[in-house]
Amino acid sequence: MIQFTVEDRDGTRQMLDVPEGFSLSLMEVLKGSNYTVLATCGGMALCATCHVQVLAGLDSLPPAQDAELDMLDTLPDSDFDSRLSCQIRVDERLEGGIFRIKGAEQ
Ligand code: FES
Repeated sequence: MIQFTVEDRDGTRQMLDVPEGFSLSLMEVLKGSNYTVLATCGGMALCATCHVQVLAGLDSLPPAQDAELDMLDTLPDSDFDSRLSCQIRVDERLEGGIFRIKGAEQ
């Protein structure tokens, strides 16, 4: 199991356990766990509605690619620890991470 923490927009935190071996993005796991993540573009790094802030574990993640960085640049509330959750594969590198959901709700 891969364990990490998700903080919702209201500050509520929950630990998620995700089985290893599934090739899912963090966005897909968040949606599947009933968080409100619009993911309008379906995970193509084109909408930024899957924006998360990485409060812990940022250095363990693979670096963002150009398409992700370009999209994050368009967000007024983007910061150094911002990522698009659709561009993050859920694997052991997320273990112990803390992700705050930031993307638009509607
Ligand atoms: S789902 Fe659209 S950018 Fe991530």
